[in-house]
Amino acid sequence: MLRRTGLHNDVAKVLVSEEELRDKTRELGKLLTKEYKGLDPIFVCVLKGSVHFFSDLVREFEDYCEIDFLSSSAYGDGTVNTGVVKIIKDLDKNITNRHVILVEDIMDSGVTLNYLTNMLAARNPASLKIVTLLDKPERRRCAIQPDYCGFIVPDEFVVGYGLDYAQLYRNLPYVGVLKTELIEK
Ligand code: IMP
Ligand code: MG
Repeated sequence: MLRRTGLHNDVAKVLVSEEELRDKTRELGKLLTKEYKGLDPIFVCVLKGSVHFFSDLVREFEDYCEIDFLSSSAYGDGTVNTGVVKIIKDLDKNITNRHVILVEDIMDSGVTLNYLTNMLAARNPASLKIVTLLDKPERRRCAIQPDYCGFIVPDEFVVGYGLDYAQLYRNLPYVGVLKTELIEK
């Protein structure tokens, strides 16, 4: 990483503040509680990026639910999707006849979620929906849309609240744009 100057100082601007993240997570939690009441859904955390959003969201879900984790990778340490999706850790649970809610940090090209939803749909869940904290619809390369979305963001590389650049910045409590001089071309 080139010329880093301190965790917060590396951020050019904050796109989504801590307060906005809290309010939106609460709103989505309420909505999901209404829609999934009595269905004992399984919330699936797509590691690692959605870790904070997932943890905040499931605690706003006010009914019985289970949680599970999936880890895939589409990116190296750069900012461009290679188009290759690798499953690093599959679900522990059998999802057949269960209501599944995939929780993502961001939808960019859509390649990752297109692959993951096809893979999970083949296991015959009762339903399968996507909730993403952030969406960059301008960059979509697959015909896939989130069922629930927190915020639409512009076509800029964002970090924080789980999202990384070269595995750093996941611990920022807000979502921000990195200073361009820090991104290796
Ligand atoms: P997609 O397959 O191109 O939709 O990319 C999905 C994954 O790429 C996300 O789950 C993120 O982990 C990562 N990603 C996409 N855009 C960004 C970004 O702006 N910042 C950090 N990670 C990103
Ligand atoms: Mg992700």
